[in-house]
Amino acid sequence: MAGKRRIGILTGGGDCPGLNPVIRAVVKRGVTQLGWEIIGIRDSFNGLLSAPYDVMELDRDSVRGILTKGGTILGTTNKGDPFKFPMMQADGSRVEVDRSHVLLEAMRILEIEGLVVVGGDGTMEIAHHFQELGVKVIGVPKTIDNDILATDLTFGFHTACEIATEAIDRLHSTAESHDRVMVVELMGRDCGWIALHAGIAGGADVILLPEIPYDIQLVCDKVRRRQAAGRFFSIVVVAEGAREAGRDQMTVEDGGPGGKKPRLGGAGAYVAQRIQEVTEIETRVTVLGHLQRGGTPSGFDRILATRFGIGAVDLIMQGKWGHLAALKGTEIVGVPLSEVVGKLKYVDPNGQTVQAARGLGIEFGG
Ligand code: F6P
Repeated sequence: MAGKRRIGILTGGGDCPGLNPVIRAVVKRGVTQLGWEIIGIRDSFNGLLSAPYDVMELDRDSVRGILTKGGTILGTTNKGDPFKFPMMQADGSRVEVDRSHVLLEAMRILEIEGLVVVGGDGTMEIAHHFQELGVKVIGVPKTIDNDILATDLTFGFHTACEIATEAIDRLHSTAESHDRVMVVELMGRDCGWIALHAGIAGGADVILLPEIPYDIQLVCDKVRRRQAAGRFFSIVVVAEGAREAGRDQMTVEDGGPGGKKPRLGGAGAYVAQRIQEVTEIETRVTVLGHLQRGGTPSGFDRILATRFGIGAVDLIMQGKWGHLAALKGTEIVGVPLSEVVGKLKYVDPNGQTVQAARGLGIEFGG
């Protein structure tokens, strides 16, 4: 074992299609070609936060057949920030405790040189925090939300858009048969990328984004105009983070200890209810939810995730610890984590894609 490089890998935050291809790429390149040891850490950072550590050595056999598998063979969590770790008190309440020192100790005991951290914005913040404590980390950007500013794309986004587009296609036929308004709520948190892309790809009539607070009258006017033109159904795509002008985003659960963010929900149901009230047209809502995150990654995401995994190993070989493997144009490059954290990539309301959609007559409600 002496002399071999030993690198840890973990997946953090919500899962998304493409995590397994990243793990596979890191293992195939690291173990098979470079002779490294790759240690898989279970359930994000949690695997190193208490002994006995929940880790497994990843050899070539352990990643066979996972290219097409959704989810992550390592498990994940979005409420396990080691700097704000949720601990149960005697009275049953939870408090946040800093357990980062436990992870540092674990890395020393397990002789892990550095970590490949695959995650979204929250996980990258944690990775950066560890980097500031002297831990060697490389980031790999995942999320269906596509909201990390430092990279042109995240893997998972393409698959989520394909799933959402198919859902909209399917809603079209039933909407048309029944002369109904079909509202579909899509994920994306504070950014409207999935709604925008799937909405255009699926031929939606209305797309409501977090970046463009909407006026329900404009939405209803669009539905009525279609009706007057003999189009008795409409498809309304609502990003879960969309909000009516002057109102807050809708949530179904507050945030919690461990860095857990508030859970968005209800935006689609609210829009559907308002459309039915104002237009008196029968309206139904579909919340696509975690279907957008589950299942096999698209071919595009398999390639992107694989390139990120190889890119992460390349960054390690170049000694570029503290960087994110990011897509810039057609190249995978390293971006310092300090430039990654806290910067979300929002849809530009005046950008070309929104303008193209407006050029088709799609209504954004604002
Ligand atoms: O960040 C990915 C994402 O799927 C968001 O689009 C969504 O708001 C959130 O995670 C859902 O989180 P959870 O899996 O905790 O319900």
